[in-house]
Amino acid sequence: MTARPIDGKATAARLRGEIARAVAQAPAAPGLAVVLVGEDPASAVYVRNKGAATREVGMRSIEHKLPATATQDELLALVARLNGDPEVDGILVQLPLPRQIDAQAVIAAIDPAKDVDGFHVVNAGRLATGAEALVPCTPRGCMILLREAGATLSGAEAVVLGRSNIVGKPIAQLLLQADCTVTIAHSRTRDLPGVCRRADILVAAVGRAEMVRGDWIKPGAIVIDVGINRVPTPDGKGRLVGDVAYAEAAAVAGAITPVPGGVGPMTIACLLENTLTAARRRRGWK
Ligand code: GUN
Repeated sequence: MTARPIDGKATAARLRGEIARAVAQAPAAPGLAVVLVGEDPASAVYVRNKGAATREVGMRSIEHKLPATATQDELLALVARLNGDPEVDGILVQLPLPRQIDAQAVIAAIDPAKDVDGFHVVNAGRLATGAEALVPCTPRGCMILLREAGATLSGAEAVVLGRSNIVGKPIAQLLLQADCTVTIAHSRTRDLPGVCRRADILVAAVGRAEMVRGDWIKPGAIVIDVGINRVPTPDGKGRLVGDVAYAEAAAVAGAITPVPGGVGPMTIACLLENTLTAARRRRGWK
């Protein structure tokens, strides 16, 4: 069997198009505030890409840069100002934060109604209890791709590899909500290959390059690879690979997301969707 590739780039472009049309019809342009603390080069690229994507769908991008030496109080003061600004619909504080700042305290300070990352405990709790929440972007993107791949979710065995608050735990909640039988596996799980082989739906989010091998995959399974790992190449430029050994897995799976071009593009599209959702709810739009 050769797996069908699941095209995240095309799906994300379609979603951004739908968001742009909705923004054009909205009474005002939603505003997304993105806060970058320090000079981490990868974070700077992410923030720049988010700003460009925000403007491209017709929303306002409000960018705040603080120096690497910023204190927690300074960042909390900025978050408080953004919470109180009626023109700001979404707030995203780019992670990781410098050592002197407690990321959990910063996330806790964001108004849950503006928490477009879906990281606040109020949104995590709402998701876990089936209430209306802002859902973390990458997990939401994974669910859209599963639907795109034509996955039958109800009654399916889903295995989530990884237990982070950002990806593993929320995607497990979403799969459970979709009536999957969900297993969360992690570094301490016994017989990881055997557990993965049970999966009709396998979501890999461990951040270990090509850890999931072809013989870990049930024939015909749908594989969602959240990993983005840079591995060295002889030319020194490096190459991006997922948490799944793609060629091996594609020989066994029914459908699989590539890296790059799978889950990655969905994350920003879902951030824009969350910003529109936050604006609608907060401003009472239809
Ligand atoms: N850093 C890497 N990914 C993310 C994300 O999804 N949200 C935030 N705020 N920071 C990140």
